Amino acid sequence: MQSLDDLLKHNRKWALDREGQDPGYFSRLAELQRPEYLWIGCADSRVPANVITGLEPGEVFVHRNVANLVHSGDINLLSVVEYAVQSLQVKHIIVCGHYGCGGIKAAMDGQRHGLIDHWLQPIRDVAEQHKSHLCAVADGDVRLNRLCELSIEAQVRSLSRTPIVQSAWKEGTDLHIHGWVYGLHDGMLRDLDCTVNGLTDAQPSAQANA
Ligand code: CO
Repeated sequence: MQSLDDLLKHNRKWALDREGQDPGYFSRLAELQRPEYLWIGCADSRVPANVITGLEPGEVFVHRNVANLVHSGDINLLSVVEYAVQSLQVKHIIVCGHYGCGGIKAAMDGQRHGLIDHWLQPIRDVAEQHKSHLCAVADGDVRLNRLCELSIEAQVRSLSRTPIVQSAWKEGTDLHIHGWVYGLHDGMLRDLDCTVNGLTDAQPSAQANA
């Protein structure tokens, strides 16, 4: 394990290298951020948004929480979304979950974990909605991974129905909400093909039922 001193040393080297390769890099970045993407991902340390997408500082605005959930009353997430949509004018919001998510597992293991059980409730709601589909999957890990995908799709729909996003679309804003899943085992991102592009897509009648 690296010590805190190692982290600070690494940082100094990184900053000097960056500035050496591209003089003025930091002063330009300090002036302005204009990311085109908002990333809503899991807090899991193995899924760092910038690293896995090859995006540089300034290119992606990031919000992460346990199991990448969109709670309609989460003032933290809503503040991030509002700022990203209204001020930064991001074009794409990516809700990204990952296979093998501990949050998904904890939601379904029938144990009491504490406060996190309240946080994970939307996952159990999704599992309930898709009960028959999920019960038909024999392998436990495959079932959890399927639930992971279904939860991401549900978060995309929840986000598309927030007043912030709805207002943006009513004003004609070009904004797309995508659901992606990341494989810890292979490092690959997959598009779940549940993109919501505007008010028509966000109608409840357009929801996928499985
Ligand atoms: Co996770």
